[in-house]
Amino acid sequence: MAKISICVGSACHLRGAHGVLDAFIALIAKYNVGSEVDMAGNFCHGRCTEGVVIKIDDEIITNVSKDKVYDIFIEKVLKGNRP
Ligand code: FES
Repeated sequence: MAKISICVGSACHLRGAHGVLDAFIALIAKYNVGSEVDMAGNFCHGRCTEGVVIKIDDEIITNVSKDKVYDIFIEKVLKGNRP
């Protein structure tokens, strides 16, 4: 199971964290992997100037925008297994 944590602290919020969150939710539904993904919003990861900051399992990923979510999802959540 992949664990996705999306920073919804103030700086990341201003940089579009909710759009990132919505994009992940849409992809999880589209690929029907809700039972394989544990997703949560979290407050500040301490790297506010690099937002939006997300964490997938133990890996921190910075400068995430909603436009980058698809590639991150395929690479890190589906582990490159394109459907
Ligand atoms: S608000 Fe997101 S890392 Fe600080």
